[in-house]
Amino acid sequence: MTNGRAELIVVGTGYRAVGDLTLEAKACLEQADTVLCLVGDPMVIGYLERLNPSVRTLAGFYAKGKHRSESYEEMVQEILSEVRRERLVCCAFYGHPGVFAYPGHEAVRRARLEGIPARMLAGSSAEDWLFADLGLDPGTCGCQSFEASDFLLRRRVFDATSLLVLWQVGVIGMTDRDPDFDARVGAALLAERLAGAYGVDHEVVVYEASPYPVTSPRISPVPLAKLADTQLTNKSTLVVPPLPARPPDRETAARLCAPT
Ligand SMILES: C[S@@+](CC[C@H](N)C(=O)[O-])C[C@H]1O[C@@H](n2cnc3c(N)ncnc32)[C@H](O)[C@@H]1O
Repeated sequence: MTNGRAELIVVGTGYRAVGDLTLEAKACLEQADTVLCLVGDPMVIGYLERLNPSVRTLAGFYAKGKHRSESYEEMVQEILSEVRRERLVCCAFYGHPGVFAYPGHEAVRRARLEGIPARMLAGSSAEDWLFADLGLDPGTCGCQSFEASDFLLRRRVFDATSLLVLWQVGVIGMTDRDPDFDARVGAALLAERLAGAYGVDHEVVVYEASPYPVTSPRISPVPLAKLADTQLTNKSTLVVPPLPARPPDRETAARLCAPT
């Protein structure tokens, strides 16, 4: 049965189960005809089911040996096929639904091309939690965020005197969804690249946000020389603290102070 109200709303569940869910996202989930989700935590899935019994997970589209881009395309198709049935669809992704997350953005883009109203609500990303847990402010010396495989493959240019955040460090080079993936090869390559700018003794932090207020986040400091021997998972984000700031550019400072 359809009710003629095709619309797509993409929301994020954040990291804290379930405290990161905004009131607006919760209302969307409750009001939806269909809820689709890509959320790892069974407690969050259980909560979504209580909000709306229609919940279905998109996780089944992942498989070992299947390229992730193929899985993402199937997720987008699944979301759109629900919306085309004239349904109000709410799709929930963990973290921020548009941060290092392709299917939500793509589903919104294609729905709009078909004239279907579609929007995304912001959620708390791993980086938001990292700023809170590690006491870092991106305003202090700037902040650069890269996907780790992309950082290596495209030789991304970065400023070592600014904070560097590298996502997906535990799955460098992984193209499918392989639970037995060996992270060491990618980690060694990454450590080598970073050591060229920071030196092998530079201490970086492997960070994993905690889903529960009663358990601590993982905050593992490690010198670059030992990064490849450190446990890295699909939840690990690498934080590379900056080198000391370079002095301000005198000419620019003079021009900023000069009367116009
Ligand atoms: C596909 S991205 C999804 C990011 C998510 N959309 C967000 O807003 O944070 C997966 C990457 O997010 C980061 N991540 C996932 N879970 C995390 C956690 N519990 N703590 C820190 N970073 C995490 C890791 O870098 C991981 O490889």
